[in-house]
Amino acid sequence: MRGDELMIFSGNGNRPLAERIAERLGVPLGSATVGRFPDGEISVKLEQNIRGGDVFVVQSTCPPVNENLMELLIMIDCFRRASARRITAVVPYFGYARQDRKDESRVPISAKLAANLIRTAGADRVLTTDLHSAQIQGFFDIPVDHLYAQPVLLRYFQGLGFSGVVVGPDVGSIKMARSFSKHLESRLAVVDKRRVSDRETVVGFLIGEVEGMDALIVDDMISTGGSIVEAARVVKKKGARDVYLCATHPVFCGEAMRTLSEAPVRQVVVTDTIPLTQPLDRIEVISVAGLLGDAIHRIHMNESVSSLFN
Ligand code: R5P
Repeated sequence: MRGDELMIFSGNGNRPLAERIAERLGVPLGSATVGRFPDGEISVKLEQNIRGGDVFVVQSTCPPVNENLMELLIMIDCFRRASARRITAVVPYFGYARQDRKDESRVPISAKLAANLIRTAGADRVLTTDLHSAQIQGFFDIPVDHLYAQPVLLRYFQGLGFSGVVVGPDVGSIKMARSFSKHLESRLAVVDKRRVSDRETVVGFLIGEVEGMDALIVDDMISTGGSIVEAARVVKKKGARDVYLCATHPVFCGEAMRTLSEAPVRQVVVTDTIPLTQPLDRIEVISVAGLLGDAIHRIHMNESVSSLFN
């Protein structure tokens, strides 16, 4: 084997996406066994020589978050000890991202800790999609390529001929909603949501008009579904016509599937940064494999990644 070969490996966090990325790049998925010892500890065995390789390991740190994060760390350690030339952690969904600051006393900044762990394990670079807050890039002391799923999601809604109003389900999502509304030449509205605990939010009122229009509610992730579905109820009550929900990361934990299936919405559109564990009616999954595959190709070839978005 010559050095510098492009190699794509996968943990168990999102193997279907890793397979799609490898297919896009026209390379076979690297051969490795990522399993468990009888006591539950993670075992990793590379079944091929990777010496001198340009290794990309695809692992979303989605639920089970700690298992997937630990798999990623142990895989990176394994690649380092097997003499990879460069290791890029491809983390389509970066878990713990919502714990990115001390918003009350005596709490951790777990996003920073997760970033430190990935670096310490031996990653040289990180490639990720729609971080909960862009500042998390600075938590890593290594280069981070931060991709946005927006172009692939926009293409879908442009294909539907969507026009109406784009709604942010909370004040934090205004930037994303504004960008969608600009590209879809639609109006903009925001729901005033306040989080009272990690499980409970209180939805206040709507800023903007939705009456008689189709509404597209956009967010970076759907976790329990509470925020986005409450926002859907608010816009529906205010007279919106068809309501679409759109988010990059389908975390879908707890009662999310039930919450979404009972929601007054026409369609839920998400990407495959996280694999779905159950089918859901009215859900459309758009792949980011092309986006990630193209970025990996450019990183490997030392070409600009930002020009993907120009
Ligand atoms: C919050 O800041 C995020 O952007 C999402 O709105 C939130 O994390 C979604 O969580 P859930 O689906 O549990 O309301």
